[in-house]
Amino acid sequence: MALRDIVKDGDPILRKKCREVDKFDGKLAKLLDDMHETMKHADGVGLAGPQVGIARRLAVVEVGETYLEMVNPKIVACSGSQIGQEACLSVPGKSCMVERPMNVTVRYKDRRGMEKQGEYSGLTARACCHEIDHLDGVLFYDNEYKGGYRKVNN
Ligand code: CO
Repeated sequence: MALRDIVKDGDPILRKKCREVDKFDGKLAKLLDDMHETMKHADGVGLAGPQVGIARRLAVVEVGETYLEMVNPKIVACSGSQIGQEACLSVPGKSCMVERPMNVTVRYKDRRGMEKQGEYSGLTARACCHEIDHLDGVLFYDNEYKGGYRKVNN
């Protein structure tokens, strides 16, 4: 495993719509391992492909005991709502409030190409939404929640 450089806001790759992963090989496994290590090293709860310079639809999320590797992820159902503070390893020094669903059902493939589906809530749901947004070139502050809350930190 190896640490990868984290791409910072301003790099056009963060605004790209990423392409699906179609090869489930050793290179993908190494990329996911590197992303996990890079995310932990940076003390994050999620990291998406474009954040390490790979414009492909994949992301890792780790909240507490839950570690997810999501390839070609899709939110297929959601319910409820939560408003909370978000930040991003690619946008150092910024944070703001973002509204997200409280519960999401995510369909994705694992590193071997096996179809998976999981239900997540709270911070894990928030992290899944944040990372899947990255795959469409969306950054958290694009969705800043302003209604009824004072802006935080910027
Ligand atoms: Co992010």
